[in-house]
Amino acid sequence: MMGVISTFGNFFCRIRLLFIVAVCLMIVGWGGFYVRDVTRYTPKYRSPVDNFWKCSSSEKKSEDNRPPPVMSTQTEPDVKICPVLSPELKGVLQLAFPPNLSLEDVQKKCPMVNNGHYQPETCRAQQKVAILIPHRNREKHLLYLLDNLHPFLQRQQLDYAIYVIHQAGDEKFNRAKLLNVGYLEALKEEKWDCFILHDVDLVPENDFNTYLCDSEPKHLVVGRNATGYKLRYKGYFGGVTAMTRNQFAMVNGYSNNYWGWGGEDDDLHSRVEFEKMTVVRPSPEIARYTMIFHTRDTGNEVNDQRMQLLRKVSKVWKTDGLNSCTYKLLSVEHEPLYINITVDIGKPHH
Ligand SMILES: *[C@@H]1O[C@H](CO)[C@@H](O)[C@H](O)[C@H]1NC(C)=O
Ligand SMILES: *[C@@H]1O[C@H](CO)[C@@H](O)[C@H](O)[C@H]1NC(C)=O
Repeated sequence: MMGVISTFGNFFCRIRLLFIVAVCLMIVGWGGFYVRDVTRYTPKYRSPVDNFWKCSSSEKKSEDNRPPPVMSTQTEPDVKICPVLSPELKGVLQLAFPPNLSLEDVQKKCPMVNNGHYQPETCRAQQKVAILIPHRNREKHLLYLLDNLHPFLQRQQLDYAIYVIHQAGDEKFNRAKLLNVGYLEALKEEKWDCFILHDVDLVPENDFNTYLCDSEPKHLVVGRNATGYKLRYKGYFGGVTAMTRNQFAMVNGYSNNYWGWGGEDDDLHSRVEFEKMTVVRPSPEIARYTMIFHTRDTGNEVNDQRMQLLRKVSKVWKTDGLNSCTYKLLSVEHEPLYINITVDIGKPHH
């Protein structure tokens, strides 16, 4: 009889202990939930405890998976760390696309940019950020983007460089492979913490949309003027995306096999899900872009094989990506406002 009672006592004691642990976890979970300044992309409700476990389990996988911490290695003790939200932010921006704008005009406006690179003067940036822009025959778009992006990034007090990756030749455009090349080449110059994968024709409308990486891959385009500022579809991951060096490496970058328009961003989204990461987005009022008008370029026709490719992602992603990205580097030029990488990425093989 005594034995039974003490077993019962023990049992209740354990239940109570479990309860206390659960309450503690709830508190920690709620705390973490409110600290994040981003909304989860999954509309369905997630309990904060789920979030807590999600964060802790992905952190376990790799130390380096957290948002790159403030660079503690370059210690200059008298230099303060820049805040996450810079005091220089303006909010909603009045964008202008003057027809007679020239590269020299933009250069004059950005005297502090040196070989495409900028560092804030008064504080040490949160992260070192490489902006990667795949490009071919869109000189006017690139000019407008540089004109808007440089002041935007400087107000955000980022330590950043802009890389333009230019596809040589007239094979079909391969945005994804160019971004892989940009990632690999940029890392030869600096140990960037964060990569912004940026379409050339999208200009941000609000500088509270910070070009910093998060503990999860971040999608920065919720809306654009061309779509009435609505998310194109649930799971959309294109346009402008922020991933840490390690997040991008974990998913093996993009596939190299998407030639022509479409599909490569959905492929990347699948990779992110395979690695059990969750896409986060800033709020829709902030994550707004203007899409500079254009017609579909020749050489970037819709890729009609994209559905077939997307069906194979789960089988091929570990061998198709950064680790299989072969290319011939033609030149790396340090222009005043950007680093111009010209590359021969070959052609589709079928
Ligand atoms: C562009 O042209 C307009 C009027 O034609 C002029 O007012 C403006 O100063 C010019 N801008 C630049 C950057 O040359
Ligand atoms: C979006 O804004 C740009 C720049 O003002 C303009 O060229 C383009 O036509 C707009 N697109 C739509 C669909 O309104």
